Amino acid sequence: MSKKYAIITGAGSGLGRALAVALAKRGWHLALADVNDAGSQETLSLVRAAGGDGQVEHLDVTKVEAWEALRERLKSTWPQLDLLVNNAGVGVGGEVGTLSLEDWRWIVDINLWGVIYGCHTMVDWLKANPAGAHIVNTASMAAIVSAPGMASYNVTKAGVVSLSETLYGELRPYNIGVTAVCPAFFQTNIITSGRFATPAQREMANKLMSGSKCTADQVAAKILKAIDRRRLYVTVPGMATFFWRLKRLMPVGVLKLISKRNIQVAAKDRP
Ligand SMILES: NC(=O)c1ccc[n+]([C@@H]2O[C@H](COP(=O)([O-])OP(=O)(O)OC[C@H]3O[C@@H](n4cnc5c(N)ncnc54)[C@H](O)[C@@H]3O)[C@@H](O)[C@H]2O)c1
Repeated sequence: MSKKYAIITGAGSGLGRALAVALAKRGWHLALADVNDAGSQETLSLVRAAGGDGQVEHLDVTKVEAWEALRERLKSTWPQLDLLVNNAGVGVGGEVGTLSLEDWRWIVDINLWGVIYGCHTMVDWLKANPAGAHIVNTASMAAIVSAPGMASYNVTKAGVVSLSETLYGELRPYNIGVTAVCPAFFQTNIITSGRFATPAQREMANKLMSGSKCTADQVAAKILKAIDRRRLYVTVPGMATFFWRLKRLMPVGVLKLISKRNIQVAAKDRP
């Protein structure tokens, strides 16, 4: 079988790294794209140890010119692009009115514009692949449940789901599958690098993450299955699937349930 080629953003840590290693086990060649070159370099060592190969590509997903330059560089040496994984993302917590507009812009630039730029820049190259191709966009369970205190994150991830659903229809005629990944909390570095309006919000996010038994490797395995089966949605672990179904049955009930925890956090922040 001929070699497969993928671009993975946010490949220097967490889910991006886990996906890179999972694809490497199938012998893929990967562009490990991240602002954290040292992290990508570590991922590359793991990729090679797992049986794949690749290259570190410095990429700030918020810069469309950087995306265009990446495409031209890769096109000059790669025969085709089989998979684009828009995974780079950051976390932000803070209620509307409290969270600064600067933090809003920061997260929208990375989590939403970063994915838009990736799809916009690479879609024609994917369409040109005669064997078909795939796009994976990492969203979150946040796109489904819209928990209070996380508006900026929720908005970016709901945007990613909407973009993915639209692309699903647009790209079917080109034999390009699309997957929107909606995980609940799993252990990565996202809280450490994230911005939070109050210490209580960071504390709550840390608690939710450290209480999760789900790992990046498990999420990556689910994503590979979804690519193989051309599935649009990935919800993981079971809790995310539960909320996904409950939201359809009782949308307001879910919002009431989710906001209970926020009332406790808000009380902690009060002077
Ligand atoms: N960890 C969770 O609980 C969780 C849950 C749901 C969704 N997600 C999503 O999973 C994705 C991966 O996050 P993670 O949890 O592995 O976090 P992580 O912090 O471990 O990894 C994120 C990576 O993105 C990179 N990145 C940040 N800004 C970038 C930019 N401007 N350009 C290029 N790369 C950039 C970081 O350097 C880092 O290597 C994110 O989109 C996140 O929102 C995570």
